Amino acid sequence: MGTTVGFVSEKGGVGKTTICYHIAVALARYHDKSVLVVDGDYQRGGITGRFVPELIEQFRTRRIEETTLYDKFLQLYSATDLTPDVDIRITNESGIALLPADPRLSQVTVDKIPTTNNIRENTRSLWRHLSVLDVVLEQIRDEYDYVLVDSHPDINDLLHAIIYSCGYCVSPVKLDLQSTVGVASAIEAINDVNSDMEMVRNALDEEIVYADTQYAGAIATQAREYGPGTLKRTERTEYRRVSRTGPILETFVTEGDGLRQAALDRCPVFDVRGQNAEKQSEQLRQLTEEFVRRCPT
Ligand SMILES: Nc1ncnc2c1ncn2[C@@H]1O[C@H](COP(=O)(O)OP(=O)(O)OP(=O)(O)O)[C@@H](O)[C@H]1O
Ligand SMILES: [Mg+2]
Repeated sequence: MGTTVGFVSEKGGVGKTTICYHIAVALARYHDKSVLVVDGDYQRGGITGRFVPELIEQFRTRRIEETTLYDKFLQLYSATDLTPDVDIRITNESGIALLPADPRLSQVTVDKIPTTNNIRENTRSLWRHLSVLDVVLEQIRDEYDYVLVDSHPDINDLLHAIIYSCGYCVSPVKLDLQSTVGVASAIEAINDVNSDMEMVRNALDEEIVYADTQYAGAIATQAREYGPGTLKRTERTEYRRVSRTGPILETFVTEGDGLRQAALDRCPVFDVRGQNAEKQSEQLRQLTEEFVRRCPT
């Protein structure tokens, strides 16, 4: 069964999409893993654009032809049966599968669930809302070694559904004071989902298959260093602070033009020439090895 990993932080620009994209490519290319990427970022669809550039126009005009995750939430809102079918795209050269972004996912909220005067029924509906992505993935997980889920920088009902569907979550972080708060709130969101499920289990007297989502750690990105492997002083202080909140991966990715060039060229940094690109490529390959150890299949 595929290991599902969410990339979460309520802080924008910390590297969620960049890291998720490169780990996906590295898993497929260097570890021979089959990978599905779910794009849960309804504002940018950054990873969708990286894999299938022509889908970005469709994303911008909001003329979505595929059956996406949003259609599944709509089924709940209109009190029809939740069916797990979604359209998966296979991206050209990499062979990585993609569940594309849908800007309408910004409208996902439990407030739209039809309510009744029965508390147990309402609890069941809230649980179904939490489990929408998991129900979709349940049908297809076996086809992949890894399912990676990119997310929008916000903690809301969609993020809770993403966390619910994941065996593990990681939290990319830029090592500055503003960004590191994103790690603490990501851990809190994971704990909230796990403890909500404890309540649901107690409230609904039925068998519920749910294993707590594990926090696999923070991933330091856009780091600055004095020399190879030595973080600058303030970044070392932030790294230590993050490590007091929870685990943090040893491998970090430095700030540099290689990844910027890769974003411009819409390709992975592994395919960009130049000294900095080679350095970042090596870091991302190492990071993927550590990722596999922390989030095993
Ligand atoms: N190590 C790095 N060196 C240089 N630029 C980087 C690095 N990592 C990411 N970037 C750039 O920083 C910007 C933000 O990165 P990214 O989009 O991955 O963050 P994000 O957390 O997904 O943002 P959002 O929350 O808005 O979706 C991008 O332009 C990306 O190309
Ligand atoms: Mg992003």
